[in-house]
Amino acid sequence: MYLTLKALHIIFVVSWFAGLFYLPRLFVNHAMVEDAATRERLALMEYKLYRFMTPLGILAVGIGLWLWYRYQLTGGWLHAKTALVLLLIAYHLYCGKLMRDFAAGRNTRSHLWYRVFNEVPVLVLVAVTFLVVLKPF
Ligand code: HEM
Repeated sequence: MYLTLKALHIIFVVSWFAGLFYLPRLFVNHAMVEDAATRERLALMEYKLYRFMTPLGILAVGIGLWLWYRYQLTGGWLHAKTALVLLLIAYHLYCGKLMRDFAAGRNTRSHLWYRVFNEVPVLVLVAVTFLVVLKPF
C-alpha cells in the first residue's frame, strides 16, 4: 500500500508540474500578442489548464501528506520539502491571479518577466527531488 501510494503521489506530482511549466509559458505568449482573437484564445486555454491542474496539485499534496501522517515518516528533509511545496502552492495560486488579470486585460508585466517567472517551478522541482531521494538531513 505504501509503494502504491508513493507511485500515485509521483504520478500526480508529474501531472501537476506539466501545468506549472505550461501555464506560465502561455503567459509569455499572451504578453507578446496584440490581436484580440489570439488573446481570447490564450485566455480560454489558460482557464482550462488552470481548472485541470488544480485538482492534480491537491491530489499530489494530499497523498504526500497522507504518506507522511500514515507512515509517521520523520526527518529534516520532509520539513524542508514541505516549505518548498508551500512556495509551490503560492506560485500556483499566484498563477491563478495572473490568469484572471490577463482575462480582464489588466496584465502589466512583460514577456521577459514571465520567462524568468517560468523558471521558478524548475528550481523547486530540482531542490525537492534531491531532498526526497537523498534525504540529506
Ligand atoms: C506537502 C506536500 C508533500 C508531502 C507532505 C510529500 C511527502 C512525501 C513522502 C512522505 C514521500 C515518501 C518518501 C519515501 O518513501 O522515501 C514522498 C515521496 C516523494 N515525493 Fe513528495 N510530498 C509532497 C509534495 C511533493 C512534491 C511537490 C514533489 C515534487 C516536486 C514531490 C516529490 C516526491 C518524490 C519524487 C518522491 C519519491 C521519493 C523516493 O521514492 O525516494 N513530493 N513525498
